[in-house]
Amino acid sequence: MNAELEEYKDWITAGKIASDVREYSKEIIKPGVKLLDVANKIEDKIRELGAIPAFPVNLSSDNFAAHYTPSPDDETIIEKQILKVDVGVCYKGAIGDTAFTLDLSNQNSELIEASRKAVENAIKILKVGTTLGEIGKVIEDTIVNLGFQPIRNLSGHGLDLFQIHTKPSIPNYDNGDTTEIKKGMIFAIEPFATNGGGKIREGSHPNIYMQTNNRPIRDMITRKIFEEIKQFKQLPFSTRDLVAKFPLNQVKMALKRLMMANNIHEYPPLPEVSDGLVSQHEHTILMLDEPVVLTK
Ligand code: CO
Repeated sequence: MNAELEEYKDWITAGKIASDVREYSKEIIKPGVKLLDVANKIEDKIRELGAIPAFPVNLSSDNFAAHYTPSPDDETIIEKQILKVDVGVCYKGAIGDTAFTLDLSNQNSELIEASRKAVENAIKILKVGTTLGEIGKVIEDTIVNLGFQPIRNLSGHGLDLFQIHTKPSIPNYDNGDTTEIKKGMIFAIEPFATNGGGKIREGSHPNIYMQTNNRPIRDMITRKIFEEIKQFKQLPFSTRDLVAKFPLNQVKMALKRLMMANNIHEYPPLPEVSDGLVSQHEHTILMLDEPVVLTK
């Protein structure tokens, strides 16, 4: 490894683990398998490879663009979904973030191709000085030319140590942003394509949470569960992360109380506004003189 890459070795490792886990998930996802088992196996694999999940694996079906992760009592069986798998890996604080879409319906290959091509074409134009608007334009043009819409209120993002979403926000359409990509930037390009209107809304039944404050808690069980939550170091978690130590009903009650105390934030699943089908692809990129795709 050359000296320049050596400086980013933890990011390279995080990216490699994320891509290995992404490929592993393709082996275990098939019709008839429980979504919950897939989620647990993917996160176990991340730990087996020496990292931790940077966020609960997102397994969002059909019209849901993102932020669906099964709860411990989820009964969903994988059948004919368009299934988005978004994997985040944290290795020594460095993060690898990658996603792909599986077409189990066997009827939506063009939609899936649209987001895949959009990432590919965006990476092709990347150089030091490329503007965020230019990236958004390539993504938008690619998706629209294939007959679909990009989701405009979801975007790619910068990455930092223990932080899965930092500046800049990388648009999935031409928003005219003239901010330039600089050398040393690490970021995720994450287009979503849909046959719907091109926007998501917030749905119900969140199962992804993140600690935002550290206010004192009176109730003893809630306090114990909060102590456990603090170990995630402000990375997102789900109820699945807590049920090894606490019963699900206690976890649910504690999360409600922590929400009321403003100690945690919840991330609800994100359906497309017109319930269009949604595909997603994502890679993490390190910008040097050339872009290095860390999750290749
Ligand atoms: Co991402």
